[in-house]
Amino acid sequence: MDNEAAANQEDSPLQKEDFGQEFKWGVSTAAYQIEGAHTADGKGASIWDEFTQRKGKIQRGHHANHTCDFYNRYPQDLDLLQALHIPCFRFSFSWPRIIPEGTGAVNTKGLDYYDRLLDNCLQRNIEPWVTLYHWDLPAALEKRGGWANRDIVGWFQEYAALCAQKFGDRVKHWMVLNEPMAFVGAGYFLGVHAPGRRELGAFLAATHHASLCQAEGGRILKQLLPHAQIGTTFSCSHLEPYRPLERDRNATRRVDALLNRLFIEPSLGLGYPVADVPYLRRIEKYFAPGDEARLAFDFDFIGLQNYTRELVRYSFFTPFLQAKLVPAPKRKVPHTVMKWEIHPEAIYQVLKKYSAYTGVKKIIITENGAAFPDTVVYGKVHDLQRKQYLQDHLQQVHRAKQEGVNVQGYFVWSFTDNFEWAEGYHPRFGLVYVDFETQQRIVKASGQWYSQFLQP
Ligand code: NOJ
Repeated sequence: MDNEAAANQEDSPLQKEDFGQEFKWGVSTAAYQIEGAHTADGKGASIWDEFTQRKGKIQRGHHANHTCDFYNRYPQDLDLLQALHIPCFRFSFSWPRIIPEGTGAVNTKGLDYYDRLLDNCLQRNIEPWVTLYHWDLPAALEKRGGWANRDIVGWFQEYAALCAQKFGDRVKHWMVLNEPMAFVGAGYFLGVHAPGRRELGAFLAATHHASLCQAEGGRILKQLLPHAQIGTTFSCSHLEPYRPLERDRNATRRVDALLNRLFIEPSLGLGYPVADVPYLRRIEKYFAPGDEARLAFDFDFIGLQNYTRELVRYSFFTPFLQAKLVPAPKRKVPHTVMKWEIHPEAIYQVLKKYSAYTGVKKIIITENGAAFPDTVVYGKVHDLQRKQYLQDHLQQVHRAKQEGVNVQGYFVWSFTDNFEWAEGYHPRFGLVYVDFETQQRIVKASGQWYSQFLQP
């Protein structure tokens, strides 16, 4: 190709064909964030049902008792997905909807709901991508110690096996856990997510048990469904030192070990990243004989979820990490409602980083997206910033792919606006706007664009 042709190619907007015929395109959601119907049909309470009741835990006192009411409105929402030409739909099963107490008695009506949901996807030619655990632990299990209790490995195996047996005939793509670092870190160490605990010991125990469940869950799914694609997902941010100083570089390495490497490395047989954060050696206290081998599982794919980059500086006062992040507003750089810097190259960087592990066979971007202050004007939402954000990130995914990274799919977070955990409903991530009073849906300009992009 001559220079002019190369330049033209760079200028012309990407087409979905540029990613290849096999590339998977979709949108992502999670049960607690969209379903609502929090007590319907025998569903048990989850730790989020309880956490949202606690004063001061969620912005503006919001909860997800009703949220998008997807539990009742899924047929219309799936019609919309189909009309928008979105081929893959990622959602999660709610553990307490299926096994209200977390272990033991099964709720048939909960199983029936997911049966209907799956059948409705397939009738519309929508490929379901299912996450087993997206943060809504049965509250009954938290009363027994939750992720900090080693018994969770058995409870999770029971739940995973049931899901595989009931739904394996229709689900061909599975993800075991959603962002273990987020739910263990925010839930058991920082206390800002359910169950709201701030205990270092519980954090270390929960880390180990979630790692074990990650691998054991993968193994059970593979045993029962040898032809399915089994993955799991990781939160990941591209990190850079705030200043070109040795101590900021070292701080960045420690934060990287904790935020980006803590859960993937044990699954690859590399153990916990103790060399960079020696404090993590204390996890060994929770080891039983044979655990080292049990932590590893050969996933068919890993899901990466990237939104931003973070800059890291040394901080004497931060216990055991001695590092802190410098927030985007403080750096006066463009950012989203979540205060996350807009830095499309971050997704390219994380793709390069994770593809460098020999054990990683295939990568799917299972989440990428942005919250902007959307407004409805004459019935329309003109969210050009989100459209630009997505286009710029896709460009970087394409760049990584062209350089040989085996990235095989891209899912936008999220299909509709929904309940953004401790932030409540204020951050809107959807391609589709939701009026939470009337449950009206409005396809945003970004949704129209994605739909056009995906048009066959
Ligand atoms: C991470 C989580 O998986 C999802 O639940 C959350 O809403 C988005 N990213 C945005 O923060």
